Amino acid sequence: MGSIDLKGKSFLTLLDFSPEEIAYMLDSAAEFKKLKKEGKSHRIHEGKNVALIFEKTSTRTRCAFEVAAADLGMHPVYLDSKGSQIGKKESIRDTAKVLGRMFDGIEYRGFGQERVEELAKESGVPVWNGLTDQFHPTQILATLLTIKEHFGKLKGIKLCFMGDARFNMGVSMMIGCAKMGLDYIACAPEKYFPPLSMVEKCKKIAEENGGSITLETDVMKATKGVDVIYTDVWVSMGEKEEVWKERIEDLLPYQVNSTLMENGGEDTIFLHCLPSFHDLETEIGLDIYKKYGLKEMEVTDKVFRSPQSLVFEEAENRMHTIKAVMALTL
Ligand code: CP
Ligand code: NVA
Repeated sequence: MGSIDLKGKSFLTLLDFSPEEIAYMLDSAAEFKKLKKEGKSHRIHEGKNVALIFEKTSTRTRCAFEVAAADLGMHPVYLDSKGSQIGKKESIRDTAKVLGRMFDGIEYRGFGQERVEELAKESGVPVWNGLTDQFHPTQILATLLTIKEHFGKLKGIKLCFMGDARFNMGVSMMIGCAKMGLDYIACAPEKYFPPLSMVEKCKKIAEENGGSITLETDVMKATKGVDVIYTDVWVSMGEKEEVWKERIEDLLPYQVNSTLMENGGEDTIFLHCLPSFHDLETEIGLDIYKKYGLKEMEVTDKVFRSPQSLVFEEAENRMHTIKAVMALTL
């Protein structure tokens, strides 16, 4: 571990990191979590400044970056596409050059992965991916930390990802599992399976690390005896509203419910990156109910609120893991 040095490195996808480096980030996050709980100061980056760019909305990721930056003694500056020149009046390349002269690190949440890559290339400072259409790597660190805390290990854990497995969460989870030696099962209709080239890549990585990648359409086969059932929203940020109808038809059979949790086993836990549609207490949830009569979507309210659901532990771990990523790369 002593030889691992991530200083100056950007955090764009977990594909860029070895299992040892990922383990190092998780250990560091656990240490920061302990320090925070003990009330011990860890302002190791006092005086530094970080820019947080959000071209899509956020609660967890933004707050995690802001709180973690403050805890490390840094000053975070929030920028979105409405209140800044990004996108409309200024290219990513020019923005990168400007921000790179003022900030020690930059977080970016937005659309294509190529944008966060360009920021990293042109800014000259570490750039952290806070979610793109393709990847959500900081989320995966929080998920892995939560699993490790709960089961005491990562290797050999069976994780079933239900639903839209082709988007950022399904794909990033597959990469994270492959790197850390978990058994990953994507359970969805075939058209929602992760891209084939990525599946092939991850199968090779999984083999090297003692894990496996399986694609399955049958929900009972996929969840039998698994340790973790994971899901994500059926329609992601940036997708058109028109896709809801088809998504509901396609993915309703893949809703995480008590039958699937019981099929996992009594020790199976439920995780979700959040936000989640599991009741009628959101604008979109209510709108979908009015249009399609559906009261809960990717997960039932009963499972979401059950003791097996560790979604809020996972949400808290966003902050500790993001803190580790910033602390180690700056
Ligand atoms: N999980 C996650 O990224 O949440 P936010 O969209 O609230 O940041
Ligand atoms: N797939 C979701 C993840 C949100 C954290 C989205 O991109 O909207």
